[in-house]
Amino acid sequence: MCGIVGYLGNKEKTISVLIEGLKTLEYRGYDSAGIAYQKENKIKIIKSVGRLQNLEQKINLEDSILGIGHTRWATHGKPSTTNSHPHQVGSITLVHNGIIENYIELKQSLEKIGYHFQTETDTEVATAYIDYCYKQTKDMIKALKKAKEKLKGSYAFGIINSDEPNTLYAMKKESPLILGRSKDELFLASDPMAISSHTKEICYLKEGSIAKLEKNKITLIEDKETTPTWVTLDIEQTKCNKNGYEHYMLKEIHEQPDVIYNTIMPYLENNLENLHKMPHFSKYQKIQIVACGSAYHTGLVGKWMLETYANIPVEVEIASEYRYKKVFYDKKTLVIVVSQSGETADTLASLRKANKDGIDTLAIVNVITSTIAREAKYVLPVKAGIEIAVATTKAYLAQLALFSLITLKLALEKNQVNEEELEELLVHYQKLPIKIKKMLKELNLKELASKVYKNEDIFFLGRGIDYAICTEASLKLKEISYIHSESYAAGELKHGTISLINKKTPVLSLVTDKYITEKTISNIKEVKARGAYSIVIITQQLDEEADYYDDKIVIPNTHFLLQPILNIIPFQLLAYEIAKLRGCDIDKPKNLAKSVTVE
Ligand code: G6P
Repeated sequence: MCGIVGYLGNKEKTISVLIEGLKTLEYRGYDSAGIAYQKENKIKIIKSVGRLQNLEQKINLEDSILGIGHTRWATHGKPSTTNSHPHQVGSITLVHNGIIENYIELKQSLEKIGYHFQTETDTEVATAYIDYCYKQTKDMIKALKKAKEKLKGSYAFGIINSDEPNTLYAMKKESPLILGRSKDELFLASDPMAISSHTKEICYLKEGSIAKLEKNKITLIEDKETTPTWVTLDIEQTKCNKNGYEHYMLKEIHEQPDVIYNTIMPYLENNLENLHKMPHFSKYQKIQIVACGSAYHTGLVGKWMLETYANIPVEVEIASEYRYKKVFYDKKTLVIVVSQSGETADTLASLRKANKDGIDTLAIVNVITSTIAREAKYVLPVKAGIEIAVATTKAYLAQLALFSLITLKLALEKNQVNEEELEELLVHYQKLPIKIKKMLKELNLKELASKVYKNEDIFFLGRGIDYAICTEASLKLKEISYIHSESYAAGELKHGTISLINKKTPVLSLVTDKYITEKTISNIKEVKARGAYSIVIITQQLDEEADYYDDKIVIPNTHFLLQPILNIIPFQLLAYEIAKLRGCDIDKPKNLAKSVTVE
């Protein structure tokens, strides 16, 4: 989703800092880009639709002391050079992440007093409104304070006022924005990644803050003028390269053994010392898991783990629904929000809703410095490291592992696990990274991918926990290969969707739960009888020679609580191989964004 970079400092560096910064933000998803920089007390703007290369081709590396840059993921108005940022009205040039909700009303009132608009965007209206406030007040800080009162919605702004050379402004509400500093240089960014090669010293802007950046001077206004709090970025969190892999997604899939090790081991060492330090879960009578996208699918697996193994009722909710619906919770409810980025707007709003109502909240996040991590009552980090591919793999897997640990902690609190069972489970935990490594080494799904990649519909079937994994398997496939795919609870297919099964329609069925194997197999037979190309993904223990599949993938067994962690891996690889055969832009699928900071 949209990205912001701003720079004030060395005149030879400005343009390259902006372009480099925007490149690091590419992974978040965008459809156009632009920069604005100061040139002889004028502001020069260059914009382009499509990939950053298109913008780069239009840019000369001129000297400039300051500039702002933006990657845009269209919300209001189609992707076009005109609609892309920076926008300029009067003396104000601005880049924006977020959505101005009352822009139509503002636009109408600004038009009445003579403003004309060139674009379809909410951002141009915000630019005009700030220009109007500046004309009224003749003071930029006062103007921004006035605009803050009027603008509804979410925003992170990087702003230049051509009347004030050598100065950058920033303003933030509900969209991430940070400042950075190094010797003689100041930075602005929506994500620390964008400036991490220049500085590790950053300041997270609080809600409603306004910042004025001048050479070696920052004025920060929160409720009142205050001094910025600087923190040092974790270097590990900023490392990013493909390490010889063709795509980030493949690299991240192969990082999973280490990610699982890093996520689980800190809890298992020293007689489970850190596991026992997790919050006390048995005081809750109900858990609500709230998330979006793959993190929501993690929640479906978390629900199965917690209900099956720790005997507690769990509701899983889509954050964009949860934030606006009537929610039934009380002091005995724990709300768990799950988010790789920790910035997803709907998940954050759901967290804030529960926090506001005084409900205990716990965040499972990958980015520990994120807003969600900062605002939740409890935080349990997953140790996936930075994830670049838009389609999540390693962060999803680490979230599953963390849910298994939360489940274990609760089951232990409730004395539901005897020593022998615990010993057995711990052995399985120890072996998990090695099993994943072995799977990744041995699974070669290129041939299978070549049999199905030309299809335009693929279905996924499973019951219970296998269905929960299928939801993610289906999403993985559609997001990177653009094949239409659906996941179904196996028994439900015959209530309508089976009419879509034609001769050779690929149906991938996951069969790993021994208690419902026969039931799922009956459903597989139903689709096979209607001509489907049946691919079964089955655990070693359940594997048999049979006539209900045309192809199969066998998965090693582990403890049943951990089995889902292994089960998703073949689906990740298959989606990858299929997308590759279809020539898709695997790391940056069209229309998608990594971090969805608007609702
Ligand atoms: C986007 C990403 C998905 C992700 C979802 C939630 O849609 O493309 O991969 O699952 O956002 O993101 P979060 O950062 O909250 O896990």
